[in-house]
Amino acid sequence: MTATRHDELETLRARVEELSDALRRSEARLATILESLPFDLWVMDEEGRYVLQNETSKRHWGEAIGMRPETALDISLEKERVASRWEENNRRAFAGETVRGEVSYDLEGETRHYVEIITPVLDGSRVRGILGVNIDVTDTKRLVTQIERAQRIESLSLFAAGIAHDFNNTLLAVMGATSVLQRELGANERASALLAEVDTACLAARGLTRQLQTFARAGPPERRIVALPTLLAETIRMMLRGTSTKSDLQVEQGLWSVEADEAQLRQVFQNLVLNASQAMQDAGEVRVRATNTALASMRGGKVGPGRFVLVEVEDNGPGIPPEKLGRIFEPYFSTKEQGRGLGLAVVQSIVERHGGAVFATSSEDRGTRMEVYLPAQ
Ligand SMILES: Nc1ncnc2c1ncn2[C@@H]1O[C@H](COP(=O)(O)OP(=O)(O)OP(=O)(O)O)[C@@H](O)[C@H]1O
Ligand SMILES: [Mg+2]
Repeated sequence: MTATRHDELETLRARVEELSDALRRSEARLATILESLPFDLWVMDEEGRYVLQNETSKRHWGEAIGMRPETALDISLEKERVASRWEENNRRAFAGETVRGEVSYDLEGETRHYVEIITPVLDGSRVRGILGVNIDVTDTKRLVTQIERAQRIESLSLFAAGIAHDFNNTLLAVMGATSVLQRELGANERASALLAEVDTACLAARGLTRQLQTFARAGPPERRIVALPTLLAETIRMMLRGTSTKSDLQVEQGLWSVEADEAQLRQVFQNLVLNASQAMQDAGEVRVRATNTALASMRGGKVGPGRFVLVEVEDNGPGIPPEKLGRIFEPYFSTKEQGRGLGLAVVQSIVERHGGAVFATSSEDRGTRMEVYLPAQ
């Protein structure tokens, strides 16, 4: 071999190595990108077998490479519905269509919502396989539900405020007329006594409308440092008077202080203690616990991080079945004959206006626990 040929070969070899290196780097980079995608991604070949799956997908569905969907994946939610939908969507994607849809899956112990896109992998015009992604939209959906609920409460408040206002005016007219009548019929003792009764009833009714207006009043709560232990003790005593429900109140020593609208906070715990007592049909025991809680991160997509006073109101009643648990904070949702279904809607609206959050957990054998997080000073 001549010297020049040798040199040429060496240059070529170096070049090939350089290229393979670049290829390896690029592959590694692609793999990293693939693995760090925050959504499921998978690719299926023409035979309908998985040939690629990122980490997120493996975590959610288990390892599926080389398998077909019906054998590979472990689905706990409505197996058949999911399987037939997959079949249909995959078939359409193999026929060249991009399929989009919203689906819910039961993953890692909770129901999560996904936007799912399945699209053909094309080589020229030939379909070589299909590619799918699942993007988690659970938190967005949750937010939309919260906004909708806030709007419902808002319109309910406006409605209540409107009624209270008009009713008040009507009462004023009645009271005006009675005072004129009082003067004119002053000599008639019986008429006068009756008019005094009308007046007293009107005053009571005005008290009621004022309460309604206080609840409906828009705007931030009037905050002051609240003596939570006393407030809790008083509320429990007041709500359980005349019932045979027992109670147990535990307050952590050195409880952080809370700045809140005292009247509104009373309403919160009145409703929770009342619900607990009603659930246990006036028997059983309501346990209330107040503790200092530092949240390192956000809890339930609603509250934190930060310092909170956590008040738990717990009962050993019949609990709330899972299909109802998601609805108890809705205005007008009630399972009671005489219930208006406003108690928990008011609780949630007040607590959230204070920058806190309320959570409900329940099981049929252990009863119900309501957790109220209030921002601490
Ligand atoms: N501690 C509890 N145990 C069992 N079920 C509960 C409990 N608290 C609330 N619930 C359920 O949630 C529903 C809604 O409660 P909420 O307080 O909003 O309305 P209500 O008590 O039915 O009526 P209102 O409070 O307006 O008088 C109740 O009807 C009940 O089904
Ligand atoms: Mg109630």
